[in-house]
Amino acid sequence: MVFLAGGDFSENPPPRITHEADRRLYVHLVRTTIRHLRLLDEIARLFSGRGHQELDRPVRALVLLGLAQLRFLDKVAAYAAVNETVEAAGFLRAGRAKGWLNGVLRKAERELKPGPFSPGREKPGDEGTGGEGKWWPQEASFSLAIRTSHPDWLIARWEKQFGREAAEGISLANNRYEGVTLRVETTRVTPENLARQLEGQAIHTEPHPLLEGALRSGQTLGLLASRPFQDGLFYVQDVSSQVLMGWVAGLLKGKVLDACAAPGGKLTLLAGRGAAGLELTGMDLHPGRLADIWVNQNRLGVPHTPLAAGDGARLPVSSGCLDGVLLDVPCSSTGMIRKYPELKWRKVEADLARYSLLQEKMVLEAGRVLKPGGVMVYMTCSLETEENQGVVNRFLTENKEFTRISFREVPPPPGLKADPAGLITGEGDFQMIPGQDRMGLYGALIKKNEV
Ligand SMILES: C[S@@+](CC[C@H](N)C(=O)[O-])C[C@H]1O[C@@H](n2cnc3c(N)ncnc32)[C@H](O)[C@@H]1O
Repeated sequence: MVFLAGGDFSENPPPRITHEADRRLYVHLVRTTIRHLRLLDEIARLFSGRGHQELDRPVRALVLLGLAQLRFLDKVAAYAAVNETVEAAGFLRAGRAKGWLNGVLRKAERELKPGPFSPGREKPGDEGTGGEGKWWPQEASFSLAIRTSHPDWLIARWEKQFGREAAEGISLANNRYEGVTLRVETTRVTPENLARQLEGQAIHTEPHPLLEGALRSGQTLGLLASRPFQDGLFYVQDVSSQVLMGWVAGLLKGKVLDACAAPGGKLTLLAGRGAAGLELTGMDLHPGRLADIWVNQNRLGVPHTPLAAGDGARLPVSSGCLDGVLLDVPCSSTGMIRKYPELKWRKVEADLARYSLLQEKMVLEAGRVLKPGGVMVYMTCSLETEENQGVVNRFLTENKEFTRISFREVPPPPGLKADPAGLITGEGDFQMIPGQDRMGLYGALIKKNEV
């Protein structure tokens, strides 16, 4: 298991797995194991008496993979899950652990109860931690952090910031990633026509419940290999980004810099709208990632914009010369855990201070290069106050020539199927928290006062 072996977790299965169904199973299994890592570690400890620190990496990976199949993958028969996992020990030079693995997995299998899982405060019939019909009764006594497999520090923060119920909602939503949202390139195709074309390739989509015109699909693997994708008829972009960008696009006029542009999701959205008089430039710290923007612009057939490598914390631009800056800053990405469950184990609380330091420098730089009357759109896919309101409020307190524009003053995006008020914080910023069909996103609008 790549992640536990210290490598990169990839959504893409290794090329040697060629059969589509096997590739799907690989992604599902790896994701499920990473998503429920803490619960599975705890179950392994319970049934073996050994904590994960006491296990060699391959042995830990195998026992977790086996338990994940028993608990979460209804489509894999229990005997197959146990036998295959025990056999795999031989390939990972962990043959000595076969007997131990067999014992733990068989014990765990015997203890499983048929679902639905509903201990604790979850509603009856709720899938709880994401299980597909079976659960261990012992889970009921675990803390929310263990049951939903999150680090304690994240749950504690969310409880403090959003309240106990919302924290529980976020952690459960994080375990129910159901697919992706498509941004339809409406200059090339209608959503209905795109849905028909994808259906023709056995990819089912449905209208997104939050935003008219957006589609969602649970079949992520086939999507990127599909003809409509190659033809540039859609971009995979979470509904949260589509809503936020739809909300702010009308404010970005004249010379606008997207200072953290790669791989070009927001840049291509803005360029594709073709607003009159909009002169966009894309920048990113990593020169290699500029190619990703170029490829996306090409595929989608949107106008190519100038692209440059540069540091958003030291912009290579003179003061007071831009009308707009889009700052989609690097962040802890805790709003994206639904899609990238490994973030739960990669990030530590100390990262937040490091990110907010960089974010503050970037906001300061963006402020420097704005003309009076110019607008900065600051956004993160983090749920953490330090990276969101913390950065914006500090900047506004220390720089009186800037004012916050409340999202209440800006018309919501066309096609929004929810009450816009529910997406605006008390201070007037945009905030979406992860839910059944969306990831977390924060946005703030800052204007340089006219002189
Ligand atoms: C959240 S991603 C941007 C996503 C992009 N806006 C989109 O919609 O596709 C953050 C980007 O910031 C870039 N980045 C990191 N540090 C940076 C810096 N100091 N200056 C500019 N870009 C930076 C990363 O390479 C990454 O591409």
